[in-house]
Amino acid sequence: MAAVTFSLVIFSLLLLVKASSSSLPADHLQILHAERQIDLTSHIVRVYLTLKVENIRDAPASEVLLAFPPAQFDRLALVKAAIAVGKKKKKSYVTLEVNPTERPDAPNGTKYYAVSLLKPLAKGESTTLEILYILTHSLEPFPVEISQSESQLVYYHDSAIILSPYHVKEQATLIKIPSTKVESFTAVQPSDRAGTELRYGPYEDKHPYSYSPVIIHFENNNPFAVVEELVREIEISHWGSVQVTEHYKLAHAGAKHKGVFSRVEYQSRPTASGVSSFKHLLAELPPRVHSVYYRDDIGNISSSRLRTNLKKSELLIEPRYPLFGGWKATFVIGYGVPLQDFLFESAVGARYLNYSFGCPLADTVVDKLTIKVVLPEGSGNASVKVPFTVDQRSETKYSYLDVIGRTVVVLEKKNVIPEHNVPFQVLYNFNPVSMLAEPLMLASAFFLFFVTCIAYLHIDLSIRKSNP
Ligand SMILES: *[C@@H]1O[C@H](CO)[C@@H](O)[C@H](O)[C@H]1NC(C)=O
Ligand SMILES: *[C@@H]1O[C@H](CO)[C@@H](O)[C@H](O)[C@H]1NC(C)=O
Ligand SMILES: *[C@@H]1O[C@H](CO)[C@@H](O)[C@H](O)[C@H]1NC(C)=O
Ligand SMILES: *[C@@H]1O[C@H](CO)[C@@H](O)[C@H](O)[C@H]1NC(C)=O
Repeated sequence: MAAVTFSLVIFSLLLLVKASSSSLPADHLQILHAERQIDLTSHIVRVYLTLKVENIRDAPASEVLLAFPPAQFDRLALVKAAIAVGKKKKKSYVTLEVNPTERPDAPNGTKYYAVSLLKPLAKGESTTLEILYILTHSLEPFPVEISQSESQLVYYHDSAIILSPYHVKEQATLIKIPSTKVESFTAVQPSDRAGTELRYGPYEDKHPYSYSPVIIHFENNNPFAVVEELVREIEISHWGSVQVTEHYKLAHAGAKHKGVFSRVEYQSRPTASGVSSFKHLLAELPPRVHSVYYRDDIGNISSSRLRTNLKKSELLIEPRYPLFGGWKATFVIGYGVPLQDFLFESAVGARYLNYSFGCPLADTVVDKLTIKVVLPEGSGNASVKVPFTVDQRSETKYSYLDVIGRTVVVLEKKNVIPEHNVPFQVLYNFNPVSMLAEPLMLASAFFLFFVTCIAYLHIDLSIRKSNP
């Protein structure tokens, strides 16, 4: 009898151990209420998700998982989460840490991000998370080719039911589209359309990993401006300015242009012809820019316009021809900005550049961004502060009059969107003596030159004298 009781105790203990080790975060939580808004009005897809999460097990939960199908995961440019703190009037949002994570039991290749909560949720407690995630290259033009007089239609694929590793008690999805022109959309009852909005749900009691694929086919004539490659070089000169040079490879990533391009038709019927093409783009530059230029392979483009006010400068970029689907343009923008607006001294005596990351062009996706910060000669101990992960390396650049070369901090990031236009800092130590290196070198060069001249003249004279 005792042996039986003992083995029973062991057995139940084992069960308990097993239960706690397999009670992965996924069955700790359930979602009481989920609301999703998908904004399809531009070519960058922004999804706002509100989740009311409750802990239904004994162990406290410190993170909440967000699930993505693998295809969507690869196109994610940004995932952000925030939590509301304080009551009604004093309500404010605190940003939460979000990191990609993996799970061994992920079904169908599901990928995850983990949101870390400020304090663990105890049993029976609930909290509301505000999540924003942004997808690029997720609107697929169909038809793939259109003529100048046609408007652009695209497909968007998603699930009517929010993909989640948790049980979702109640949920609804609202999709915003740019116009009332919807060719078709998959119906998942209840779902309906009103004007420029589609609604899926409310759906109740959906099991973990419930999925219901939908396709929406609709009109979207927004400029699909994609910079396939952007190289920004930011050169710091302690002699008064920061010089920025930006090399763009711009493409229209929408439906390909079919047939010949008629400029006459384009100019005479601007509202009906080439509606998905774009003629110009706006670049937002710092307020006190000077020596702005804009050129392509042929030369300077004078049609650009610069407007400056106290807060910012706007440069209107107009390529030589309007960009239709599949067309590309390569160009360079350059400008200088005053050193004192962007270079500061840190508390520990180091200097730092504080500049904007990302791409100055409005509503643009950058597939590959490279930022090169060229530090003054004689700088060392460079370090970088960027609020998201970037690839980092360093190079040395030689320009004329350089003795030891300049350190170049190189930052690389793929899939960059306007939300990445936030300040970043490059810290470095600088020895002011090296600032004198260039003038000293110039001075010694001149000095040598004179000495040589004098020596030459001297020799010349002595030859004449000895040869009367
Ligand atoms: C995995 O995918 C298959 C086929 O698409 C589907 O039938 C199945 O329900 C999915 N499983 C889960 C757990 O989502
Ligand atoms: C283009 O403009 C810049 C600045 O205005 C000027 O320095 C440069 O010489 C010009 N280049 C050509 C080829 O006109
Ligand atoms: C960098 O500049 C931005 C404004 O452009 C400012 O808000 C921010 O505080 C600056 N950061 C540092 C570390 O100086
Ligand atoms: C870099 O840091 C080291 C130690 O902190 C210091 O000895 C060195 O002088 C620094 N280099 C420069 C260029 O300031």
